[in-house]
Amino acid sequence: APRYPRYTREEVGRHRSPQDRVWVTHGTEVFDVTDFVELHPGGADKILLAAGGALEPFWALYAVHSQPHVLELLREYKVGELSPEEAPPAAAAAGDPFAGDPPRHPGLRVNSQKPFNAEPPAELLAERFLTPNELFFTRNHLPVPAVDPGSYRLRVEGPGGRALSLSLPELRSRFPKHEVTATLQCAGNRRAEMSQVRPVKGLPWDIGAISTARWGGARLRDVLLHAGFEEEREGEWHVCFEGLDADAGGAPYGASIPYGRAVSPAADVLLAYEMNGEELPRDHGFPVRVVVPGVVGARSVKWLRRVAVSPAESPSHWQQNDYKGFSPCVDWDTVDYKTAPAIQELPVQSAITHPRPGAAVPAGELTVKGYAWSGGGRPVVRVDVSLDGGRTWRVARLSGERPPPGRAWAWVLWELQAPVAAGAELEIVCKAVDGSYNVQPDSVAPIWNLRGVLSNAWHRVRVSVRD
Ligand code: HEM
Ligand code: MTE
Repeated sequence: APRYPRYTREEVGRHRSPQDRVWVTHGTEVFDVTDFVELHPGGADKILLAAGGALEPFWALYAVHSQPHVLELLREYKVGELSPEEAPPAAAAAGDPFAGDPPRHPGLRVNSQKPFNAEPPAELLAERFLTPNELFFTRNHLPVPAVDPGSYRLRVEGPGGRALSLSLPELRSRFPKHEVTATLQCAGNRRAEMSQVRPVKGLPWDIGAISTARWGGARLRDVLLHAGFEEEREGEWHVCFEGLDADAGGAPYGASIPYGRAVSPAADVLLAYEMNGEELPRDHGFPVRVVVPGVVGARSVKWLRRVAVSPAESPSHWQQNDYKGFSPCVDWDTVDYKTAPAIQELPVQSAITHPRPGAAVPAGELTVKGYAWSGGGRPVVRVDVSLDGGRTWRVARLSGERPPPGRAWAWVLWELQAPVAAGAELEIVCKAVDGSYNVQPDSVAPIWNLRGVLSNAWHRVRVSVRD
């Protein structure tokens, strides 16, 4: 057998365009597929999405690749093997706090490198109901903590000053494993559209600060009851979470949810240690994170170190002075964070994932695709799609899981086929309706807010139809 040169993932990651050659990996093998890009039955644009990184998460979206002839074809392009050891992070010596962050797929659309914030390519977002872990959007405020699973302990403060300290094996064995399919969405999803009205402060997320996984872990409810809490608790109480990631001043990332949601068996709040059947990836909270279905992503605290019940919400910056909505008339001179409630359940949302803005689509039958979701376990009951800017509408076909009433934690994917004529300019619009008949606002300006959160206006995509 030929001996192949060894490359690190980082070296592979430098080959992302036909000019620099297009390299991909599969297992531990490295391939230069530059000459195949234009021959790809799925299109050159699709292969380029995976350029510089692993094929597996993309092939998980398109089952056509799980046939022997595809691997045979790939073999012709082999140029190397991945080195068993990655080069040590070069920046570590320079004292870069982010030097210990995990490697990421170069196909992600990065909004900020340090801290790492990235979304999957929009056109792939709704290709599959569960988002592959490597493509799941990542929203970090701080460096990713390095956690040794052997010495990891979760501290749960019980009533009357007693505290529980749970190792990973204890969390796994003492409480039944519960699985929930839930969509996480960041409050800043679709912020880029809001900043077109007027500048806002925050990362310019496109439509991809949302993803869906099957989470597995202990119910927070079971852990709280085990710690000695009761199902009912008189007065106002909150369950506060702290992460192992801390800012320069030592303040950990933190958030809280109301006590009632934390103990409700129907709210499905998890202390998750699994994501799509695998252990949690480092970027998503290894070894344990909170998953609060139906609630803004900010409350699903990753790298969980502490759970405590308190008469007040989490004192964290991210609970008190961020992730709140304001009137369009509030600016940075007048904002008073104490006047607005922390975002918990999110409003109804939808977006078009295909085609992309500015695309030139072929005449004939056009397929429009996207996602729709609502907070609080409210199901999406309908998605309306217009091809003429909202003058006339059609109803899209929905697909997804059939959840129990009030527990629709996951998005639905939707699709609409419609004939389109050569030369036409289309303004495609989508809007979703949830089980409480909540609808999305038709435009962004009236919901503009200085932090650019809760951006859920009708999504509009302009495309032209080729002659
Ligand atoms: C179809 C190979 C990467 C998306 C195919 C087919 C082959 C192939 C042989 C035809 C399969 C059949 O019908 O029997 C490859 C190779 C790749 C690669 C060798 C990498 C080097 C990708 C990536 C994506 C993708 C990264 C998506 C991001 C698709 C799609 C089709 C397809 C959507 C279906 C096309 C259709 O049926 O109209 N690919 N592929 N491929 N591929 Fe890939
Ligand atoms: N937990 C910790 N410890 N640190 C964080 O920065 N970000 C929050 C939340 N939990 C964050 C966190 C925000 S704002 C979101 S939207 C989700 O994690 C994103 O989860 P994901 O990166 O797994 O997609």
